[in-house]
Amino acid sequence: MRPRADQTAAWTALRTLFDTTGKNFDLREAFAADPRRFESFSQDAPHVFADLSKNRLDAAAQTLLFDLARQCGLEQYRDAMFAGELINSTEQRAVMHFLLRNHAQSVGQQAQPAIKNIAKLQSEVDEAREAMLAYAEQVRADAAITDIVNIGIGGSDLGPQMAVLALAEFATTGKRFHFVSNVDGRELGDVLAQLRPQNTLFLIASKTFTTAETMTNAQSAKAWFEASGGRDIGRHFAALTSNVAAAKAFGISTIFGFWDWVGGRYSLWSAIGLPIALAVGSQGFRELLAGAHAMDEHFRTAPLERNLPARLGLLDIWYRNFHGFTSRSIAPYSSALRRLPAYLQQLEMESNGKRVDSQGRALPFETAPVLWGEPGTNGQHAYFQVLHQGTSVVPVEFVAIKESGPVFKSHNHKLLANALAQAQALMQGKTDVGGHKHFPGNRPSTFLLLERLTPASLGALLALQEHRVFVSGAIWGINSFDQWGVELGKVLAQDIEPRLQSGDLSGLDASTAGLLQRML
Ligand code: F6P
Repeated sequence: MRPRADQTAAWTALRTLFDTTGKNFDLREAFAADPRRFESFSQDAPHVFADLSKNRLDAAAQTLLFDLARQCGLEQYRDAMFAGELINSTEQRAVMHFLLRNHAQSVGQQAQPAIKNIAKLQSEVDEAREAMLAYAEQVRADAAITDIVNIGIGGSDLGPQMAVLALAEFATTGKRFHFVSNVDGRELGDVLAQLRPQNTLFLIASKTFTTAETMTNAQSAKAWFEASGGRDIGRHFAALTSNVAAAKAFGISTIFGFWDWVGGRYSLWSAIGLPIALAVGSQGFRELLAGAHAMDEHFRTAPLERNLPARLGLLDIWYRNFHGFTSRSIAPYSSALRRLPAYLQQLEMESNGKRVDSQGRALPFETAPVLWGEPGTNGQHAYFQVLHQGTSVVPVEFVAIKESGPVFKSHNHKLLANALAQAQALMQGKTDVGGHKHFPGNRPSTFLLLERLTPASLGALLALQEHRVFVSGAIWGINSFDQWGVELGKVLAQDIEPRLQSGDLSGLDASTAGLLQRML
């Protein structure tokens, strides 16, 4: 068993460091004292350049964080994931979404740690991918299909939706994509009002094929399809699921499967990514996987000191457990990345929003921060006020793209200038005036820079985020791959729903009963 983080020598040393110098760390002084600070705290990783220098972190803290990682067995735990061990302990499952980004030819060449039956497993993965991509090409060539409707929620919505928007520049077919997730009938209704059944392909995306919202929307979509004269469910509905039997029972014959070792929030690389493949084509989808695979290899092989997911995940620990920062703001300076904050919310908060370790024992320290954000420059005109002058410190993560897409290229310098200026303003502040115009500065930020937003760089960026969440989860000793916290609400909704019909208030607390009464 791995030692608990707060029982290691490194944790104690970090606590002492924070109490002595860490808590008074000043970014402006650190830059003044070290002309090479930018070089020391920035690095290249596949497709992503990261500048960590505007963080409240010095060499001493960073060294102790690497010690902490080693004392907590991070490298062994990482290797256990890549070896296919059942690290999702509460569900007795392996965590192997990285296999979706690999293929049989390269498995032999890489010193891929021994996954039992790796050759067989990888060829199954490759086969499923090829079937899905062949189907994607077939639909792309089918001019009669003008609209694709993805019905799914959580990981079966956020990943594909975020990526389809991010890669719109590469979407060549002219087909329209719609994402329906909410059980609010308005959402499905608004989409269907624009569609004709003979031109529509519905993708029912659900790993379990039991999620209430998705099943409700899928049933309603099917009813609409039939009522509006649609024929041939086989041609107009496809299921993306690991529950093939349930998809068949629903009446769907075109089914793309995946495995229980692919978690919902890690599933855009599987059949759940079909909307992405439909948008950018099989080549684009392969590039997305290749970008993520390059980051997998970086995470798997780079020494911690030059391992970007490790450095980011450890910085997250330093901020959450020592500085006590409660949230992180995500600021993609890219309209195409507008759904990235929502995607990252599920990735980090569903993975690490837990109060017990992987053995179920209560943890005595804080875990996942709250993630939030909007694309820049929009956020600047909404909530950046609180980042600059609010009473709490919120580390910001900027994501910027060096070369914008082909449209209105001249805007790009304004966009980049704003990203740089915000990071600079947060750090420098403005301290020569008092009162309302005073900016304290010393507000930390990380700056991630992509050359271009392409399928490959997006893949790498997302895999980077997955692995950094793995790192902080590993240090905290939690199982990042289950999500029991979403269950209770689901059960209670099942109890309440019939009461909206029957009016039965028995056994309810006074508030729920009072509200329900008003709804009746
Ligand atoms: O309720 C949470 C959750 O299980 C997520 O983890 C998952 O991404 C989402 O629901 C959707 O699940 P499914 O793909 O099985 O419909």
